[in-house]
Amino acid sequence: MTAVPVVAHRRIEVPLAGRGYTVHIGPGVRNLLPEVVAATGARRVAVVTARPAGWTPDPGVPFLTVPARDGERDKTLAWVEELCSRFASFGLSRSDAVVSVGGGTTTDSVGLAASLYHRGVPVIHLPTSLLAQVDASVGGKTAVNLPQGKNLVGAYWQPRAVLCDTDYLETLPPRERINGLGEIARCHFIGAGDLRGLPLHEQIAASVALKASVVASDERDAGPRHLLNYGHTLGHALERATEFALRHGEAVAVGTVFAGRLAGALGRIGADRVAEHEEVVAGYGLPTALPPGMGTAELIALMRLDKKATSGLTFVLDGPRGAELVRDVPERAVAATLDAMPTGPAPHA
Ligand code: GLY
Repeated sequence: MTAVPVVAHRRIEVPLAGRGYTVHIGPGVRNLLPEVVAATGARRVAVVTARPAGWTPDPGVPFLTVPARDGERDKTLAWVEELCSRFASFGLSRSDAVVSVGGGTTTDSVGLAASLYHRGVPVIHLPTSLLAQVDASVGGKTAVNLPQGKNLVGAYWQPRAVLCDTDYLETLPPRERINGLGEIARCHFIGAGDLRGLPLHEQIAASVALKASVVASDERDAGPRHLLNYGHTLGHALERATEFALRHGEAVAVGTVFAGRLAGALGRIGADRVAEHEEVVAGYGLPTALPPGMGTAELIALMRLDKKATSGLTFVLDGPRGAELVRDVPERAVAATLDAMPTGPAPHA
């Protein structure tokens, strides 16, 4: 196999004792795949890919290609079982490895299959969407959905490496790119600082570096990792209320504006900082207003189901000490803040 040169790129370490790994970010980093496969010691790999052959690099060892099923509909235990059967029929052993090439739904389901097959085989992620590059592929959360809800069955399974090839992003439809910016915009308020105006690969690197430090301090989501869910309490509710017509990053963007307004209403931040939420989100070309037809009572009911909420209404909110988890936020403050939010155009399905 001819070695393909990889130009200078960013490397972010995820410093987990015994399970640390590198996230490589930049154009062409998919071509590092043979090197990272060799580092696992695998003699063969299964490559589950949502991309055509030209976009799926040769792993440098004999391999099985399995077409991915990108999308929430196929993020199921049945798909994980089928993947594991395909791995077994190919003869993948416990010392071999799995590679995922696709969006966040692919890295989630392939990551879970890798965590279960032979009680765990190495996995390498090549996220192809901006959302997956800045969030889903890093940090080791893997999961599939049940009819009762999203991500209800999963495992923590850290990858051996993540290759965030920015060439993949050139091929994304504009709305999908903007969707990914939603997770970058919320980083402004949880410690990444102002990333606006930086080249996209630098914004990805800063978002991944922030996530790496949060995951290193709380791999299993017992405390600080909640910060990553800034803007997500209303965001998840809006995704469900719009039956996913509003995409995840778009919903997080509106949720981020709301979180700023709610923090202002609770006296945690001043008017300038509230306005900064709207400026940052709008500056990324993301929606700042609620979609039409959202009922306050319905949204509050959905927010009560949020996984952070063990009791009452729970949000990650900005404040004098920075962003933190705030429990038992009074419902009347939440309702008044929702009622005061502007309404924007309907999202395209
Ligand atoms: N996407 C949030 C987390 O990884 O914890």
